[in-house]
Amino acid sequence: MSRRILVTAALPYANGHIHIGHLVEYIQTDIWVRFQKLRGHQCIFLCADDTHGTAIMIRARQEGRGEETLIADMREAHIRDFSGFDVAFDNYGSTNSGANRALCAEIWQGLRQSGLIVEEDVSQLYDTKEGTFLADRFVKGTCPICKSPNQYGDNCDKCGSTYTPADLIDPVSALSGTKPELRTARHLFVRIEGLHDFLEQWTQSGEHLQPEVANYLKGHFLGEPLRDWDISRPAPYFGFEIPDSPGNYWYVWFDAPIGYIASTKEWCDRNGEKLENWWKTGDAEIHHFIGKDITYFHTLFWPGMLHAAGFKLPNRVHIHGFLTVGGEKMSKSKGTFVRADTYLKHLDPAFLRYYYASKLSSKLDDLDLNLDEFVTKINSDLVGKVVNLASRTARFAQPTGLSAQYPDDGGLFAAAAAEGEAIAAAYEDGDYNLAMRLIMGLADKANKFTEDAAPWNLRKDTSRAAELQNVCSISLNLFRQLAVYLAPVLPKLAQQAGTLLNAPIAHWSDAQTPLAGTAVGAFEHMLKRVEPAQVQKMIDASTEASQETAAPAATAAASFSDGPEALAAEPLAATCSFDEFAKVDLRVGRVISAQEVKDSTKLLQLTLSLGGEEKRNIFAGIKGVYEPANLVGRLVIFCANLAPRKMKFGTSEGMVLAAGPGGQDIFLLAPDSGAVPGQRVH
Ligand code: MSP
Ligand code: ZN
Repeated sequence: MSRRILVTAALPYANGHIHIGHLVEYIQTDIWVRFQKLRGHQCIFLCADDTHGTAIMIRARQEGRGEETLIADMREAHIRDFSGFDVAFDNYGSTNSGANRALCAEIWQGLRQSGLIVEEDVSQLYDTKEGTFLADRFVKGTCPICKSPNQYGDNCDKCGSTYTPADLIDPVSALSGTKPELRTARHLFVRIEGLHDFLEQWTQSGEHLQPEVANYLKGHFLGEPLRDWDISRPAPYFGFEIPDSPGNYWYVWFDAPIGYIASTKEWCDRNGEKLENWWKTGDAEIHHFIGKDITYFHTLFWPGMLHAAGFKLPNRVHIHGFLTVGGEKMSKSKGTFVRADTYLKHLDPAFLRYYYASKLSSKLDDLDLNLDEFVTKINSDLVGKVVNLASRTARFAQPTGLSAQYPDDGGLFAAAAAEGEAIAAAYEDGDYNLAMRLIMGLADKANKFTEDAAPWNLRKDTSRAAELQNVCSISLNLFRQLAVYLAPVLPKLAQQAGTLLNAPIAHWSDAQTPLAGTAVGAFEHMLKRVEPAQVQKMIDASTEASQETAAPAATAAASFSDGPEALAAEPLAATCSFDEFAKVDLRVGRVISAQEVKDSTKLLQLTLSLGGEEKRNIFAGIKGVYEPANLVGRLVIFCANLAPRKMKFGTSEGMVLAAGPGGQDIFLLAPDSGAVPGQRVH
């Protein structure tokens, strides 16, 4: 029976780029969605950017631009990253949309009517210079317990104590470096204790949550009265103003999950469907995928809000653990904090999709990315066992096509077909590692068959042509069967298998019947082996990239201690007029190729793109400081109207800007994220 399934992944914050940690979630959700679609169910995959809150407001201020431009740029970057990893949403919205504002108002009405909204005074530190209340992370000071200096407003990373910012000794605003004062404002709260019985029942029913999550909630929250939830923030705040409480804004965690519904609304409007059919009535299932850090919001507040406002509740919240790399937290200084776009410059997205799938279970355990294991798994499983089946036989079968009747394979195909339901059950339960193990078990058998039959030997003997065709027909059918089972994880491979054998893979049941008598296309390269050096390059690039952005989002002015040496070494030049300055046309360019110049100890030859067809050839004195391969793709700032200069190696058409005295100390300039090639620098 065909199901109707609505699936969401958590809405990524618009104040940062997607990294390989996020991808644990987006890839696993995408796999689940693709699996459901392949099984013939109607399944829609919804997401959006989470755009509101203090962090975005502050970042926009620091970058000297409006929040709207910041979130528009970030949304574009997120969409690009997701599509680079074949994460295919049916709609990608924004929490800053009209649809979301309207739904927030509707749910707010529901909460008001249920009598759950109360008002209370809240005292919070206020930055008088910036004119804003300070979230805990934006206050620093001395820990009141162990007296360690420079601790955040919510907890001490030296002694682990938690407290409120007002408890800090000598608190300082991380925004302005000034001393904040304590001010009181009225906030709106949800009296969530009024929903205690409902939440007890919903979380403990055994149907909606993994057992360890249900136990955690029981042990940590449900054993005592639930605390009121502070749901408003006074101006200034980047968010939606509360219609019946002017000057107050909904806290970002109120409007963020409503973004799931708003994204559904946009999809419904485009597809002639009714929102009510998904979120109010009807038989549609709702599945949320989230990381364990946001459990509380999705398993207590969110069900509470939906229940109070008369919406349907999620059928299941699937919660996963966090990514570690080499057994440790992702680290910028170690180069393991890898951004999605950096990964894509070095490696095939299919590799990460398969690797994560091979490690994921339905448990909340953290997932470790071990880079050596990554290389081995890709090479031995994907290339060695799966692609190999096709690459070693397709050529021989191309002239004849597949045998008119599927030959006797000793029951291999039928046995693998029979395993389809076990593999499907593993996908359904989120036990992708089990699914991958079952599939690789089948791949082993298929390879043994091909190895034993040795078509490469049969080919030498023309009298055995029929036998050769049969052997290849079997190998290619077994390959196709694997491609069907792997299709949720490796959509590109499934597509290539479809093209090769002239039979698109469209349904799980395509693994049940072998192809016979059909044409075989030309074998085109599918997945290349991964070399450890490629992985190393990605790590190197991540180490560098993080150096450029190492400064934390907000740092107290007082904590910088830059010495006077650099300025002394190169004193300021004489004043220039604005007109003189304006003559220099500085532009953003993207390095699209970089190579060493032979016979030059200093120069790299760069091709910069200004967008479209416009390019510049530039020689830059950065050889030995930057690896050419690490430059490709990155943005630089360069002087675009400098008179061309003939050099021994060719003509240089501009100059790339860099700081530093020279030697090994050369630091290329880069624009903040959002800039695009061709833009002028003013
Ligand atoms: N904006 C909130 C979610 C709002 S949903 C209504 C948020 N955003 S996030 O960008 O920080 O994270 C998005 C998702 O990625 C979350 O589910 C989070 O758990 C997950 N991950 C972020 N970093 C992760 C790892 N390092 N490892 C695994 N998942 C990670 O939270
Ligand atoms: Zn302390």
